[in-house]
Amino acid sequence: MTALARETVRVELPARGYDITIGAHLTEELGTRLNPLLTRPKTAVVTDTTVAGFHLAKLQASLNAAGMTHDTIVLPAGEASKSFAQLAQLCDRLLGAGIERNDAILAFGGGVIGDLAGFAAAVLRRGVGLIQVPTTLLAQVDSSVGGKTAINSPRGKNLIGAFHQPLAVFADISLLGTLPARQLRAGYAEVVKYGLLGDARLFDWLDANASLVVALQVPELVRAIASCCRAKATIVARDETETSERALLNLGHTFAHALEAATGYGDKLLHGEAVAIGMAMAFRLSAALGYCSAADARRVESHLANIGLPTAITDVTDDLPSASSLLDIMRQDKKARRGGIVLILVRGIGKAFVAVDIADSRILSFLEAELNRS
Ligand code: NAD
Ligand code: GLY
Repeated sequence: MTALARETVRVELPARGYDITIGAHLTEELGTRLNPLLTRPKTAVVTDTTVAGFHLAKLQASLNAAGMTHDTIVLPAGEASKSFAQLAQLCDRLLGAGIERNDAILAFGGGVIGDLAGFAAAVLRRGVGLIQVPTTLLAQVDSSVGGKTAINSPRGKNLIGAFHQPLAVFADISLLGTLPARQLRAGYAEVVKYGLLGDARLFDWLDANASLVVALQVPELVRAIASCCRAKATIVARDETETSERALLNLGHTFAHALEAATGYGDKLLHGEAVAIGMAMAFRLSAALGYCSAADARRVESHLANIGLPTAITDVTDDLPSASSLLDIMRQDKKARRGGIVLILVRGIGKAFVAVDIADSRILSFLEAELNRS
């Protein structure tokens, strides 16, 4: 193992600070690592069918070896599980498993399991502990860190949720070996997001090393995940509940969420792919409005395309939504203020800012141009 094979990043929050441990084969050590974090040797593991098939046995062996009793709740894989129906069932099963307020549950999966189990932890008995063991690249660099938990509403993504920080995050990079290449690439979109929003040097490094990161080369992968977690931890420590700066983490997401809603939250467009398109759109709109250079927008597009990510909605479907329907969905975005759309735009690579004054008519004409790209 190289010197870079394990890293710890601290999220500094008053009374709620926690460590993110990043490295290979952490699952096998979880039983012993969890013991000091829990008030008694008992937990409930929440996972999905796919993750359970690949990795549950080694997690359970590790918990058993550490003498930890545990129930396991296996939910259907996929975004559709972030629903009231699954939340209700999950809470009922956690109560049935005897999870008390001083216990902690363990979210073992991608962003869907992390967001759903996290929200259940936030509301069960008015809040039980949560340990995040993210199993996708996306979840390791983004969704498991920072305490946002949510389910979806038919009116839009993540509209029902709570802030609930975990007690610890364990990002075991060995779990990523079973992730389909497409999911890995989709997760990479959230990696490069951190360079694009606030760290041009990280973007330069990724521009040179992205192929090693998605090939799961250990030193580059650990360095990329740790860089993202450090960037997120810094922002979350300054603005835990997104009153200002944290909104920058939504670069590309207002467009992305509208595209996901319009394409039905399915295989046609994965969340990370939608984020890749959304970030490319944010750069193109910024260039069109004169905030950033067209060269930067083109550089971002080529970087994403080289990894195999889409950069325009016309790359993924011919069944295009209308510009006005996308604009309607964007109005439901969580960042919306007084009915107006709030976008994260850029003054260049690594220079994102919150734009509150872009007229709907300007956004509409931009969306029309995007839908007519050849
Ligand atoms: P996901 O959880 O659906 O995982 C993607 C797919 O990969 C699923 O089919 C899953 O079963 C499978 N999978 C997971 N780990 C695997 C592994 N190790 N090997 C093989 N297959 C595996 O999706 P995701 O991309 O991880 O997360 C997307 C979700 O995260 C969205 O709902 C999004 O809104 C949310 N999100 C939340 C935050 C936040 O701050 N809370 C941030 C970003 C995204
Ligand atoms: N993924 C955006 C945030 O955590 O704020």
